[in-house]
Amino acid sequence: MSIAAIILAAGKGTRMRSSRAKVLHEIGGEPMIARLIRSIGALAPNPMVIVVGHQAAEVEAAVTALDTSTMRRFELQEPQRGTGDGARCGLANIPATFTGDVLITYGDMPGISPATLLAFIDSHRKSGAKLSFISIKLADPAAYGRVIRGNSGSVLAIKEARDASPAELAVDEINTGVYLVDSAFLRSALAELKPNNSQGEYYLTDIVAAAVSRGEKVEAWVANNPAEFAGINSREELAEMEVQIRETINRKLMASGVTLIDPATAYISEQAEIAPDCVIGPNVQILGKCKIGTGVTMEARSHLKLGVRAEDCTIGEDCDIGPFAHLRAGTELMGHNRIGNFVETKKARLGHGTKASHLSYLGDATIGSDTNVGCGVITVNYDGYEKHQTVIGDRCMVGCDTQLVAPVKVGDDVYVASGTTIVREVPDGVLVMSHHPQREKTGWVSLWRKRHGDTREVIEKNQGEVKSK
Ligand code: UD1
Ligand code: CA
Repeated sequence: MSIAAIILAAGKGTRMRSSRAKVLHEIGGEPMIARLIRSIGALAPNPMVIVVGHQAAEVEAAVTALDTSTMRRFELQEPQRGTGDGARCGLANIPATFTGDVLITYGDMPGISPATLLAFIDSHRKSGAKLSFISIKLADPAAYGRVIRGNSGSVLAIKEARDASPAELAVDEINTGVYLVDSAFLRSALAELKPNNSQGEYYLTDIVAAAVSRGEKVEAWVANNPAEFAGINSREELAEMEVQIRETINRKLMASGVTLIDPATAYISEQAEIAPDCVIGPNVQILGKCKIGTGVTMEARSHLKLGVRAEDCTIGEDCDIGPFAHLRAGTELMGHNRIGNFVETKKARLGHGTKASHLSYLGDATIGSDTNVGCGVITVNYDGYEKHQTVIGDRCMVGCDTQLVAPVKVGDDVYVASGTTIVREVPDGVLVMSHHPQREKTGWVSLWRKRHGDTREVIEKNQGEVKSK
């Protein structure tokens, strides 16, 4: 039986003290809501309704940009009158013909895994409950809603910390904010919510007491991995979750055969694919859907060295990258490539054995194999309106400080003299240069200095002026 999903993401996230909507704050290099949408997407809900409000357009854009096949709909909650009100908005976008269970979660819980959600759904179905939610026991239940149970141990209600009595506050079982609710019951329970609490809000959590008072079966599914359920309310919690998620990713990578020289400083996205026997050096960031092929070792023979940032790119075998290189989206290294310090690549394909060792920008470029890109070579790819392609052939020597004014094509086996500005197609096998002839003016320096005074005096005077500024 299919499920529908509602994700509540309309709140501002006051405790973040940010002008940016909370769910857009990043974890593991992507907005926190992206992770949640991937996890819930694994359950193939139909539909998945995301309730937006604060910075609705930005949240919608971020969610729409995600690479997932899950059917997503948006519903605006304006003003935001609490989680119960938000759920009501979300439900309005689920067709009345839908009669299955509705999964409701909050957009600020990026840690939850699909496996846990599946186990929860399974338990809910087996129990036959009208309403189930996930709870956990915490040594420090902090500001979470407390799960209130009766003498028999059955769930009676969820009480928000700010509305709880001292005895209720002492309860260590808390509401994680993941619910599965029969759609018919949800419709009627949400319609009857009252904002009778310290915040004057409609609380989604009140549907638990409502179910109990109607004699419906309610289950709290006690999970045992608190890390998955932390709700992110502050920058501190964001940073803690970042560490946790990173640790999980890194453990998985190491278990799969990837060496992390210093896991504490390996920043690798969950979507990155890294082949066994890769060695990742310290202070490496690998963001987005990077794919790092077999045999790329990043510390010994082939490296991703200190301070390399690689984003949505493919790195073939035996590559040697960094330190301080920036491989931007669309970079494809076909293998045996050397990318040296302060080299930036974007939408650039470098053939087998091609090197760019120092200080270059290679954007919108296709470069053949065994070509040497000298120090300071720049693809001039942008005319202020559009980006243009540079194509360079095989076995070329592109001299230092060459500019390639795109769109432009350089053939195979070309030698480009240093300092050349290439503005039109270069045929195979030639030496190309655009030098101004070198000239000397004999005696020029001493004339110049006579006019301007002794060099040392001038330097000292200038330094004095700099200091006094
Ligand atoms: C909520 C629960 C609490 C639970 C905790 C788990 C309620 C009343 N309380 O508290 O029991 O222990 O989560 O993390 O539900 N939102 C909207 N519209 C609104 C208000 C909120 O979409 O009008 C969204 C927010 O963007 C956020 C989520 O709902 O993503 C939760 O809201 P938040 O204010 O963080 O709830 P908590 O106080 O953490
Ligand atoms: Ca929260």
